This record gives sequence, structure tokens and C-alpha cells, in this order.
Amino acid sequence: MRISGRSSRRRMLGFGAALGGGLLASATESRAVDGVPGQLGIPLGPYGERSPFEKAVRWRRDTKTPETGSSFTPLQDSVGAITPSSLHYERHHTGIPTIDPAGHRLVIHGMVDRPLSLTMAEIRRLPSVSRTLVLECGGNSGSEWAVKTAPDVQRSHGLVSCSEWTGVPLSLVLKEVGIQRGASWVIAEGADACRMARSIPLAKALDNILLAYGQNGEALRPAQGYPLRLIIPGWEGNACVKWLHRLKVTDQPYMTRDETSKYSDLMPDGKARIFTFQMEAKSVITFPSGGQTLSGPGLYELTGLAWSGRGRIERVEITTDGGRTWVDAQLQEPRLPIALTRFRLPWRFEGREELIASRATDESGYVQPSREALIEVRGTNSGYHYNGIKLWRVQADGTVTNV
Ligand code: CO
Repeated sequence: MRISGRSSRRRMLGFGAALGGGLLASATESRAVDGVPGQLGIPLGPYGERSPFEKAVRWRRDTKTPETGSSFTPLQDSVGAITPSSLHYERHHTGIPTIDPAGHRLVIHGMVDRPLSLTMAEIRRLPSVSRTLVLECGGNSGSEWAVKTAPDVQRSHGLVSCSEWTGVPLSLVLKEVGIQRGASWVIAEGADACRMARSIPLAKALDNILLAYGQNGEALRPAQGYPLRLIIPGWEGNACVKWLHRLKVTDQPYMTRDETSKYSDLMPDGKARIFTFQMEAKSVITFPSGGQTLSGPGLYELTGLAWSGRGRIERVEITTDGGRTWVDAQLQEPRLPIALTRFRLPWRFEGREELIASRATDESGYVQPSREALIEVRGTNSGYHYNGIKLWRVQADGTVTNV
């Protein structure tokens, strides 16, 4: 279909009218701004900074030890589907080590025919791939299990981010060392002070895991595991071991601290599910969301993010009446598998209270459950793998709160 200049201009005027003449008001202001004389800018710099007027930052909860904790991506300020490396969420157990890549080694040993110690220079000589992938902490939205919920989308859902990751397929290196008969697990260990370690099933290690050294076009940030980390498509962030320095091939999991006392899911009967790696389909509206205020009735773009550890997002539905009726949102293309997918819906706020939420369906047919359905199966003991439908209350005065 061809859109002529005239008809697109008419559409613009339509949108202006929908805003109640708002666009015409800005046109008057822009003439005034044009009257300001230009001024000499600042000199060119070697590494980019954002505008000093942009204030979005990660949020972190105070902890007794500042080296331990999580920091949350400001999803309410995000646009598109990529998270800037500087705003990627973080979760650390003993701080961020400073590692000189010149001295860093990845040792691969255990049940292998030819143990290897690789330098970073050797790893970077191997055939590489790049993939845009979502990374979500297993504990993201943990506060939603409780009755008392976080006040905004950053604190309720901000332990999720999306980057383009570059590295070497782990399968390639594992084939090189020669896996011995009977091996079934790989223990991945980081070079941080606590030697954070996770047991990974060998089948997944041979499938699609990356030994990643690149993020969004440059080297990993130190907080993301510089110089080397595991990126495991669709699995909880904790398993994607940062500052990776050791892979040991074994015939059993090691039952490390972070797969037993942590990152396990306590069920209502007191038993715990362990090795729950897969992140399920999930979505959340980022505008309007908790803590934001609409300037008045009129047309807005309702928008948010959806993702699934199982593959592509197939559909996102929106309700503005607390779940009685649902309409399909537009999905940003291309819809990459296991990546954040931006959804959008033109929406008219009439100045009446509304309960808004999104519901994602992934390509496997999995549908994001309601909070009630999730709790019916999982109870409320668990702090991990919360992916329930997220409701926000838009009040008649335009303020938005958690529900
Ligand atoms: Co888990």
C-alpha cells in the first residue's frame, strides 16, 4: 500500500486532534525555541556519554555488604527491545572482580580426554557467533509472590535485560577436549571471591550455550563477567556463570550453594524443586506502570515487554478492564527467539479507573498464567520463577499504582 504525503499529513492532524490540540501547542513553542541562538558545543570525547538531561538509573536495595545484592534495570524508561550495557541488571554475591584478560584462563578438565587451558586470545581465535538474548534473574518479580508488592515496574520486574552477546559455542570447545563415556554434567565456576558455581546438564552444554566475551558491540562489562561468561539461552541468569575460569566435566551435579540453598523452588508441601533452569513466558506493561502519572485524558501509547525462555513471543494480549476482555497488541519485528519483544497498543484514557495488564503466549503455545493460577500450583513459599500476569491500576486522576 502506498501512503501519499497528503494522507499521512491528514493522519498526523488526526492524531493531533486526538491529543486535544496538544500538537498545535507544541508547534507554537518550537518557533520560540528556534529563536535561541546556537552555541558552541563541548569538544569531542573518546567514549560516549548520554545527555546530562537523561536520569534513568538502576535501583538497588540497601544491603549490609555493598558487594552483595541486585540492581534493577529501569524498564519504565526503556524504549525498543535492547538494554544499554550500562543499565543491564546485576546480581553479585561477592562484588565485581577486576580481571586482566591477559592473565585470565579458562580451564576445561574432569572427564575429558585432553584437558585444556585457554587464554582469552586463544578463545577469540575460535569461530564466534552473536545472538540477541534476554537474560532474567530466577528471582525476578519475587516480590510479586507476597501480598505486599513493589511500587513500580523497575522494582517488580527489573531483573531482566536484553543484549546482543558474542562468543564461542561451548559445544565446539567440548568436542575439542573429548567428552568421556559416562559424563553427564558440567560444573561451571566463576573467578569471583565466592567462586560462584552451577551444575549444567551436559546435553544443554552441547546444545546452544555461548562462551561470551562480547556484549552490544564491545567487550563484556566487568559487572557482566568480563572477560568471559556463560550465556545459556532461556535459562535463569544465575546459571550463566560470570568471570568463568573453570569447566569441569563430571558424571553428577555438585549440589553447589547456589543450586541448593538458593535458586531452588520451595513448594507448598515443603519439598523443593531443584535445577529449575528454564524461564517461562512473561510480559509486563512498562507504560503506564506503577509510580507514573498520566497528564490527563486522551490518547497514549500503551507499551511493554514480553519474553520467553522457550522461544519466540507469538502473541501479547492487553486488558484494560481487569481481565474481562482482551485485545491483541502490536509486536515489534523481528521477533527474535528468547529475546525481549516490545509490544505496543494505542490506548485512550478516559479519566476513569482502569485495571490494565498484558498476557504473553510463546511459540510453544505456553500462555502466561494469572497470579492466582500460579499460586495454586506453586504456593507462596518460592522466591523464584514468578511469571504471573501483572496488573496496574490507572486511577481516575491519572496516577498508576501496583495492584
Ligand atoms: Co530456577
